Amino acid sequence: MKNKLNKIAKDTNISLKNFFYKQGNSKLISAIKYSLFPGGKKIRSKVLVDIGSLLSINYKTLITIGAAVECIHAYSLIHDDLPCMDDDKIRRGKPSTHIKFGESTAVLAGNSLQTMACEILASSSLKIKDKTKINLVKKLSECSGHLGIAGGQYLDLSYEKKKISKNKIIEMEKKKTGKLFSFCCAAPAIIKNKSNKEIKFFENIGLNIGLLLQIADDLIDFKGNSKKAGKKTGKDQIKGKATLISLLGYRNAIKYCDKIIIDINKKLKSYGSNSKNIRETLDYILYRDK
Ligand code: IPE
Ligand code: IPE
Ligand code: MG
Ligand code: MG
Ligand code: MG
Repeated sequence: MKNKLNKIAKDTNISLKNFFYKQGNSKLISAIKYSLFPGGKKIRSKVLVDIGSLLSINYKTLITIGAAVECIHAYSLIHDDLPCMDDDKIRRGKPSTHIKFGESTAVLAGNSLQTMACEILASSSLKIKDKTKINLVKKLSECSGHLGIAGGQYLDLSYEKKKISKNKIIEMEKKKTGKLFSFCCAAPAIIKNKSNKEIKFFENIGLNIGLLLQIADDLIDFKGNSKKAGKKTGKDQIKGKATLISLLGYRNAIKYCDKIIIDINKKLKSYGSNSKNIRETLDYILYRDK
């Protein structure tokens, strides 16, 4: 699993670097590159490749889409760390983008990464039909905006220091983190021109993978090691973040994750032997330490 993930991370970075190579220069490019490279685990690209393998999508196509997704993810992390949001100074084992480059540059680098994601999907490096590209851009934009990441981040901040119900916490985590995974799972079905019903099926799987990743992230914050995680841990409690751990406790949160994994595996079983790829990814997401 580790080797496969490393290869996908490397290939996603090569795809991003090729894209930069064709772009003009600007004063923001250093901050943009700083927040993308060497970058994180690239787990979203792995999910794209795993689900893509169920529908026999070309690897290069999946990696190019993964590069676009990583731009959205990197933007969301830059903004998540800003003083007006989580106020975090360390990200991926180095100073957060606003610490290194200043707040206004960090905001603008984040904005640029959002639009860059759409540029990548629209570019000639992605060798699929124009109509399909439009559908991907539409879905990725929807997952990133007020119905997705931005909307979920709003809820996350507005729930601080409040008693929030389990359903509301799950809805918030599905939006802020699940939506981008729902794009990763839906993209292969969109490329294959599947029915709306089948696209919805994959979107729902993605929402739950994202929920799993976020609960695991909350578990790392609760018990994890800052050095290994590459970011400060123990912060959610101090900030009074509404998480399933704060509501149900550590053990019950893990039990909840086990249930999510069993449920997703059951749903994907009929897709044949390739579903072992996503199975290993789900276990990795829960048991990682960073
Ligand atoms: C961290 O995401 C932020 C969340 C959405 C929970 P990742 O755990 O995927 O972070 P990187 O990309 O590997 O740094
Ligand atoms: C971030 O969640 C979710 C995003 C959409 C960026 P967190 O605030 O828990 O992520 P970390 O712990 O700072 O990486
Ligand atoms: Mg946050
Ligand atoms: Mg944060
Ligand atoms: Mg966290």
